[in-house]
Amino acid sequence: MKKAVFLAAVLAFASCKKESQEPFGKSSESTTETSSEGESAKATTPIDLGKEIFEGRGNCTSCHQPDQKVIGPSIQEIAKIYKDKKGDITTFLKGNADPIVDPSQFAVMQTNFAITKEMSDEELKAIEAYIYSNLK
Ligand code: HEC
Repeated sequence: MKKAVFLAAVLAFASCKKESQEPFGKSSESTTETSSEGESAKATTPIDLGKEIFEGRGNCTSCHQPDQKVIGPSIQEIAKIYKDKKGDITTFLKGNADPIVDPSQFAVMQTNFAITKEMSDEELKAIEAYIYSNLK
């Protein structure tokens, strides 16, 4: 008897909780919104992924700062020149395009192709998205 009451109380609590959560969801009709929320919680946007690779595994930040030249041109400069000249960053990073930012220093950049050639298209696209996200 006691058990049944307890169970009923738990059930009531659980269903009550579920109901009370619903108003907090943005809109229960929009399934697309819920699924995109799920994605962003799991991984990230391409820009975030690109940033992560750029600063982490790719180690690109050691030569490319967002807005000032260190060893390599700044990310902003790369983004600007690629946009102006309609360059293709992913093709460049695969080693299949000529440098257009600072060809005289290309040999320094070329050493990184060993890393970038191993990256998937998705990762290279993410890096590209991150570079363009620095455009002012
Ligand atoms: C050892 C220093 C160094 C590292 C590390 C480095 N770069 Fe570079 N990068 C350079 C230099 C120097 C240039 C300028 C030469 C050139 O334009 O090719 C350059 C140029 C570039 C360009 C412009 C290429 C062009 O068309 O001229 C891109 C895009 C780029 N780097 C992306 C990256 C990415 C992505 C990473 C990380 C995977 C990275 N770099 C890591 C030194 C580096």
